[in-house]
Amino acid sequence: MSQKEPIILAIESSCDDTSVAILKNETILANLIAGQEVHRVYGGVVPELASRAHLQNIVPVIEAAVQKADVALGDIDAIAFTKGPGLLGSLIVGTSFAKSLSLALDIPIIDVNHMFGHVLAHFIDDDGKSKPKFPFICLTVSGGHTQIVLVRDYLEMEIIGATKDDAAGEAFDKAAKMLGFEYPGGPLIDKHSKSGNPFAFGFTKPRVDGYNFSFSGLKTGIMNFLNKEQLHDPNFIEENKSDLSASIQHTIVEILMTQLKRVSDDYGIQEIAIAGGVSANSGLRNRLVEDGNKFGWNVYIPRFEYCTDNAAMIAITAKFMFEKGLFADQSVTARARIPFTY
Ligand code: KG4
Ligand code: ZN
Repeated sequence: MSQKEPIILAIESSCDDTSVAILKNETILANLIAGQEVHRVYGGVVPELASRAHLQNIVPVIEAAVQKADVALGDIDAIAFTKGPGLLGSLIVGTSFAKSLSLALDIPIIDVNHMFGHVLAHFIDDDGKSKPKFPFICLTVSGGHTQIVLVRDYLEMEIIGATKDDAAGEAFDKAAKMLGFEYPGGPLIDKHSKSGNPFAFGFTKPRVDGYNFSFSGLKTGIMNFLNKEQLHDPNFIEENKSDLSASIQHTIVEILMTQLKRVSDDYGIQEIAIAGGVSANSGLRNRLVEDGNKFGWNVYIPRFEYCTDNAAMIAITAKFMFEKGLFADQSVTARARIPFTY
């Protein structure tokens, strides 16, 4: 087994995407994702259907990734997989497959925390793009989590703020549903925002303690506002889709950035990163760059394919675990919730 430049095959199956990546040292040789259209008509991810689709997708995606990376199975030094957090049935598919493959190839397995993966996606080699320097602050915003993470080292992180209720992605998706967009609506709010006025409508921002977040009040505020306006004008949503999208997006971004600025000031850290599905949002990306220029931050924004769930981020995390000899054994099990530590 080469200690210097390990080749790692990683499987990510925490939610509704089956993803497989192959990493050599810090370079991604393949990062393939099979999405699951089946959930769209239900307006959200149906766990039973997700596990079944993972079962169908996993072998073809692994085969395609190995082919794309142009590696032989015998060249792989370790198999990594997402242990949690996520949907248990979905995680079990990836975990079981990783365990079997490691037995068949007689190589170690590495059990990765999905949330570490989002943060460490910043360390994938990407066309010479600069990587954050420790310590840095990472705002991780996804469909299931909203966290401000103090990153002291690759595997040494502390959550210093988190949502008390809905995640930022959920706030986007629930607001999008009220506007009549298909699931997941976050990207559609983003798209419609581009032609809308972010100041057309004002929504109340929550008061929360510390560096935490709350989005459930915003959801109720938007619902009440839409109901009231529709009493006067039944076509209100249709006529104002872009302005509503832009105003909602602006409010969510404002809530996120206000806390991020407080953390940066209080901790005296100017290395600021974003991660997770919502970091694909153009409003958030633009605002981070603007605030970075204004406050003298070095900002780090992952490329789109490393924002939403992907196995490349699991592979890079596994690489740092590989170097520390942090391997799992065959008794490892998938976990819907796991502590934020190694
Ligand atoms: O990280 P991710 O792919 O999966 C989880 O681990 O949750 O995040 C998915 C979330 C969804 O809520 C989706 O609507 C949101 O990320 N999202 C966006 C955008 N792209 C994805 N939200 C706003 N604007 C986007 N462009
Ligand atoms: Zn995620």
